[in-house]
Amino acid sequence: MSGACLLSGTTAALIPAAGSGTRLGLGHKAFVTVGGVSLLARSVAALAPHVDEVLVALPDGLELPLGINARAIVGGQTRQDSVRRLLRATVADTVLVHDAARPFLSADIVLTLLEAVAETGAATVALPVADTLVGADAGEMWGAAVSREGLWAVQTPQGFRRERLLRAHAQAAADGHAATDDAGLIARQGGAVRLVRGDARLFKVTTPGDLALAQALAPVWDAQVGGGPV
Ligand code: CTP
Ligand code: MG
Repeated sequence: MSGACLLSGTTAALIPAAGSGTRLGLGHKAFVTVGGVSLLARSVAALAPHVDEVLVALPDGLELPLGINARAIVGGQTRQDSVRRLLRATVADTVLVHDAARPFLSADIVLTLLEAVAETGAATVALPVADTLVGADAGEMWGAAVSREGLWAVQTPQGFRRERLLRAHAQAAADGHAATDDAGLIARQGGAVRLVRGDARLFKVTTPGDLALAQALAPVWDAQVGGGPV
């Protein structure tokens, strides 16, 4: 049985795609293509088969390109604002929040996440940290070492009961708390968040180096998953 079958009610995928892509430096990042398909189109296509609707937050004034099967709303000034707007734009019982900038999302991971959300109410994809960690001091010199033991790097998608995540967002806004993900907002209220083991290929395209990796991976991924330009 798929995870979606275990969940009661409807499910929506919420894709924040309203950022400016400053670190990549190629304009609106969600529309950047790898292997002939935009990061946004890849993310939408990965989630659409598993949910009842897909909502995308875009910068004001931009429209969804033809061929992307989703509903667009205007995003906010920060990722957190964009997700909050997406949460208010759907009545789905369960939401999967996924960065447009993570284009290589497998069906297996989506289904495992949905199962975890059905059990726990909140879950995120994440990966145990493999590198040595260190804090840099002001002069970009080696500062305090940080043990990587027990540390995981948080990815997306992240799944929640929508009402629960709305409450966590409202509390964060009231506290002036800024976060770069949504599971952390549940955790700061003491809520349980299940960690679902992710995949290195689920990296976020943030810098030109990440884009080079994505361009190299795209043809391999498309040959395995059956995606690519239509
Ligand atoms: N995002 C959003 N609304 C914002 C800012 C970010 O919907 N106001 C989205 C981005 O479009 C992206 C995801 O949140 O899909 C993760 O953000 P990030 O990787 O930081 O993308 P950008 O903010 O576009 O990039 P940068 O920080 O380099 O400008
Ligand atoms: Mg950003």
